[in-house]
Amino acid sequence: MPDLLPEDRRVTKPANPLFARKSLELLLEEMKGDNRLRRVLGPVQLTSLGVGAIIGTGIFVLTGQAAHDKAGPALILSFVVSGIACIFAALCYAEFASMVPVAGSAYTYAYATMGELFAWIIGWDLVLEYTVVSATVSHGWSHYFQDFIGIFGIHVPKVLSIAPFDYDPSVGHFVLTGAWFDLPAMIVAGVVTVILVKGIRESAGFNTAMVIVKLAIVFLVIGVGAFYVNPENWKPFAPFGYAGVSLFGHTVLGQTDAGGHPLGMLAGAAIIFFAYIGFDSVSTHAEEAKRPQKDVPIGIVASLLLCTVLYIAVAAVLTGMVPYDRINIDAPVSDAFAQVGLPWIQLLVALGALAGITSVLLVMMLSQPRVLLAMARDGLIPQSFFGAVHERFRTPWKSTILTGIVVALLGGFLPLRMLAELTNIGTLLAFVIVCVAVLIMRVTHPEAARPFRAPGGLATPILGIALCLLLMMSLPVENWWRLLIWLAAGMLIYVFYGRHHSELRKRNGNRGQLP
Ligand code: ALA
Repeated sequence: MPDLLPEDRRVTKPANPLFARKSLELLLEEMKGDNRLRRVLGPVQLTSLGVGAIIGTGIFVLTGQAAHDKAGPALILSFVVSGIACIFAALCYAEFASMVPVAGSAYTYAYATMGELFAWIIGWDLVLEYTVVSATVSHGWSHYFQDFIGIFGIHVPKVLSIAPFDYDPSVGHFVLTGAWFDLPAMIVAGVVTVILVKGIRESAGFNTAMVIVKLAIVFLVIGVGAFYVNPENWKPFAPFGYAGVSLFGHTVLGQTDAGGHPLGMLAGAAIIFFAYIGFDSVSTHAEEAKRPQKDVPIGIVASLLLCTVLYIAVAAVLTGMVPYDRINIDAPVSDAFAQVGLPWIQLLVALGALAGITSVLLVMMLSQPRVLLAMARDGLIPQSFFGAVHERFRTPWKSTILTGIVVALLGGFLPLRMLAELTNIGTLLAFVIVCVAVLIMRVTHPEAARPFRAPGGLATPILGIALCLLLMMSLPVENWWRLLIWLAAGMLIYVFYGRHHSELRKRNGNRGQLP
């Protein structure tokens, strides 16, 4: 394995312990031991793992809300813009993954390159991403479950079918739905929690089967749907305009809804960004990759490119089949086939979406306790709870159960669009940090070995930052406040707990010192 950075090959005692970094040797040492995973994954399997984590609630559910309420047929362009933002971020992720080819995620990369404080910020941000993404996905699962059983005339009682309140764009504020909570979303979160506590190995075989099902459904939607496209439905192409950017609540570009939330193609891009989340999870498989420095970047970029092309095609077909204002916002893809009189395809799509969304939920809820485990092992959160591994099942059971409870509560009581927006702003921030980190490393450590170097020079991370920030601004302003509150809470935990218990500081002899 090549050097990460020449001066990083030892544990350093930096002047400021906030920026203490983990050396590559230390990371590799931590990966040794009985629990090493076998290096079995090649580029195709890694790409397949990426696709498995990407295709889910975003394409099967959120496309409906985005087309109906935000972008109209211009959703096709929303997918292009969001995809381009993700490609820049993915190239930066890939460069990082090749520089620090160990298991982990942006949290580990940040610890190795930018130091503990940034690692904490990104780790805390990933907690937001994984938990809220799981809650959003559980909600999407519930929609398709209800659509599926509805085909057979079975219905979940209204009071148990959705969150108790939701945002109504026509009046511009939250309204009560008359329901108590979304029971199917809570049940699926509970079932997945039990499975994860008992332990499933991240099985590439199971994932491949799920990916085949999902891709088959997506190709079916595109292939059959294309025959039912009526180009008249694409007119007007951008009923809400092409923009939709606001700066902390003040509209900078484009239209707004009754509540002052941005509308338009860019606002749609900020919502369906959710559909692309997951390609970053390929980096967590570096320990099992045969050639991590080459294949992990291939897996990240290839899975994202494939999904981008498919998403653009699905958006074109969906908005071509059904006038945008008649697109169903709960189960849009399967309902489109009901609307054109093909109920058997509706059934297949609903089943495939259910299977696909379940596999995304498994990956996301599996990742959360592992990020927490990594942070607990570093001493940044209590080891006794988050680092506890079950004696028999060998899983991080306490944090898995905690994750399950939080996901069930969020998924049961909060509306889908609120959860999706919060996920997006948290994930976009993580992408911005990764792009900033790549930029910093390019400038400060130009000599470091980079088996994969993102093409385009400094323009790539800079464009990644700019586009992700643009999408963040296209989200309703409340999300910024929610994100800032979350980050402030994280800083308090770090100041009062993490920095006093940091393992790296103990190692460096800086325990508890003020920076
Ligand atoms: N991209 C994943 C999904 O759409 C999170 O479900």
